[in-house]
Amino acid sequence: MFEGASKSYLNRKSVHKIIADHAAEGDGLKRALGWASLMSLGVGGIIGAGIFVLTGTAAANYAGPGVMISFILSGLACAFVALCYAELASLIPVAGSTYTYTYVTLGEIFAWIIGWNLILEYAAGAATVAVGWAGYFNRVMQGLGIHVPPELTTAFFADPTAPGAPPGAVHGLFNVPAAVIILLLTALLVRGTSESTLFNNIIVAIKVVVVLMVIVVGAAHIDQANWSPLIPENAGEFGTYGWSGVVRGASVVFFAYIGFDSVSTAAQEAHNPQRDVPIGIIGSLIICTILYVAVAAVATGVVNYKELGVPDPMALVMDRTGVSWLAWAVKLGALAGLTTAILVLLYGQTRIFFAMAHDGLLPPIFARLHPEWRTPAVSQILVGVVVALAAGLLPLDVLGEMVSIGTLAAFALVCLAVIKLRKMHPEIRRPFRAPGIPWLPVAGILSCFALMVALPLDTWLRLLIWTVIGIAIYLLYGIKHAKRLH
Ligand code: ALA
Repeated sequence: MFEGASKSYLNRKSVHKIIADHAAEGDGLKRALGWASLMSLGVGGIIGAGIFVLTGTAAANYAGPGVMISFILSGLACAFVALCYAELASLIPVAGSTYTYTYVTLGEIFAWIIGWNLILEYAAGAATVAVGWAGYFNRVMQGLGIHVPPELTTAFFADPTAPGAPPGAVHGLFNVPAAVIILLLTALLVRGTSESTLFNNIIVAIKVVVVLMVIVVGAAHIDQANWSPLIPENAGEFGTYGWSGVVRGASVVFFAYIGFDSVSTAAQEAHNPQRDVPIGIIGSLIICTILYVAVAAVATGVVNYKELGVPDPMALVMDRTGVSWLAWAVKLGALAGLTTAILVLLYGQTRIFFAMAHDGLLPPIFARLHPEWRTPAVSQILVGVVVALAAGLLPLDVLGEMVSIGTLAAFALVCLAVIKLRKMHPEIRRPFRAPGIPWLPVAGILSCFALMVALPLDTWLRLLIWTVIGIAIYLLYGIKHAKRLH
């Protein structure tokens, strides 16, 4: 992935040149993956902290049991985007291709904004998953009878009086476990890890089994009174329960769907990409939507939604079922599943920086490789330290909502790029063509925007500040150092 990405960014001259480069590279790849393998790849990439953690946050703070509907709405928005994503990714099947195509179709400033927002998806995403990981870790420590002072497991900026905060919440200093897991995984990535497919497949299997276990075991312990009312009455402001809360919940749990792009990156290894990639993407989205709705139903049925605003809601649900060995299995399974999710996000972030640095939008240090380990070591350490600080200081809801808003903004631009590229270069052979152009991408843009609108005002303000900082960096640095395309 890394090699392919660097080549395309370095040699880029035109859309045709990029495609030719990658077609040549792809010739040697074994077309070994069928739609079923692609689907399992997708499910493995998608399931993470979203379902294990944010389901609880969204139910407690915004949607109540209506979080089930939130998952359906969010899944639909993702389906529109995923089809657009599949079209772009089938042209260059490497991670980061969306950034490249935005560069070519919408221009440098949009590419920068996409890259800048992808920091929210990847770096803030890694911090979010780490906070989720820490929640499960703390639960395991408690179970072992090891007391960790709550001040050292709670973010400095977490508000213990916020609605949905767990009972007995304290003013935190620093979420030490969340920061430590980031630093440990950073050390691993600096040294270079060769991904073992077998290891990954085992973790994916564990993740799916854990989710199925929550559904099957939890279903027997549902108290239907917890589902009534399905959508709690609005609390007087937009987004706190009621239908607006369901939509806000959808924008929060959108995080749980991020990762379907992993299917499109395997397009070149598919037997028949034109057929198998869309089946893989849409199929894994459908499977995840069904699993997610079922988990949401079980979680809000077993535990009252008001109690679900904890960092480890699935462990809480399993604890309530009273089958103690299952509760342990879920906690350990979640820890394993979340660890690989953090690893992939930290890895992805430095590779995006690598691409941006090659284009001159970031300083060359981000494109420098360690002479022996062949990893972007300095960049990885910088990212690791900043992400560890964010994970230690910021609470889960703030982080998760920033990830959602940033990714939604980037996805809307991806849809726009599909329309523009069809207009600019209708002649390009597209291994996969998204159906219903231009209406499908328009639906994608509108649904991303709707989910963004439903996010809290604070999150918008943070996005505004984030964007202003991004544009300032572009004006002070990127604009002068960018290596123009044409
Ligand atoms: N979808 C991924 C998760 O939920 C990012 O962790």
